[in-house]
Amino acid sequence: MKVGEPSRTALATAFSRAYHQIAPEPRILVDPVAVRITGASPKELIDRATAILNEVGMDPMLQRRRRMFLAARSRFAEETIATAVAEGIQQVVILGAGLDTFAYRNPYDGVRVFEVDHPDTQAWKRERLAAAGIDIPDSLTFAPVDFESRTLDEGLSTAGFDRGQPAVFVWLGVVMYLTKDAIVTILEFIAGQSASTRVVIDYLYPPTSDTSQQARVDRVAAIGEPWLSFFTAEEFADQLRALGFDQIEDHTGAVLVDRYLERPAPSTGGEAGPHVVRAVSLGSKREGHYGPAS
Ligand SMILES: C[S@@+](CC[C@H](N)C(=O)[O-])C[C@H]1O[C@@H](n2cnc3c(N)ncnc32)[C@H](O)[C@@H]1O
Repeated sequence: MKVGEPSRTALATAFSRAYHQIAPEPRILVDPVAVRITGASPKELIDRATAILNEVGMDPMLQRRRRMFLAARSRFAEETIATAVAEGIQQVVILGAGLDTFAYRNPYDGVRVFEVDHPDTQAWKRERLAAAGIDIPDSLTFAPVDFESRTLDEGLSTAGFDRGQPAVFVWLGVVMYLTKDAIVTILEFIAGQSASTRVVIDYLYPPTSDTSQQARVDRVAAIGEPWLSFFTAEEFADQLRALGFDQIEDHTGAVLVDRYLERPAPSTGGEAGPHVVRAVSLGSKREGHYGPAS
């Protein structure tokens, strides 16, 4: 990210989710706050999506696929939250929240949401919320943290997060912008909770010679938010296992979208592009570690 500026990619993903709400396509994610938070009218959303196609010469089908993926990863995360809440979990942490809107639609009584983000992006989001007249619910606490220079532990404990209670961590669209050291430090913190924890993360497979992917690599670098980290599915799962995560599910973006569209998964498409992972850490109190699970 550029020093002193909010994340531009956070605005881009928010515009995509907003356009998904009005585009003539199956609604994978229903998000009544998505359009409001952008501050744009439906016409402006359409004009912006068209302008991007014209400016960067993007294939409209590629733009649509990307939009469907962004909707699918949020839906997958929110389904994970729903299951966790049904099982009694009452803390949700949205890491690198950008203009994510779950906290403003949180339907669960007693569930606290912590939005963690780079201080510059978070300050900008708060201005946008105020401008759009979106109330900040009592259940939400903001925790400004630059993952490359401040610990998540410090940021979350200041915000009142209870490390002894179970939690769901949602970390979407962020790890590709971080160094591997920063990613591992945060995963270590999550795995080091004393109580059980679930995490939903997406990561990018190493770029292939696909020209549309290379074009996107160049675009994010040009706006000052280069992709720094890529993983194969095996590398990512090995890293999670080494940190104590278990029950690791890895889905390619294409398979996840097809699941929500109730289409059979494509037989080709391979591993390239984004993957979404859900994993569980039983926490440091797990049996055989510091004693029986509580
Ligand atoms: C592509 S946006 C994704 C935002 C949101 N999760 C979504 O899905 O729309 C990337 C997010 O990562 C955050 N981010 C990037 N580098 C960061 C850092 N060093 N520390 C904290 N957050 C960072 C940005 O502020 C931004 O909110």
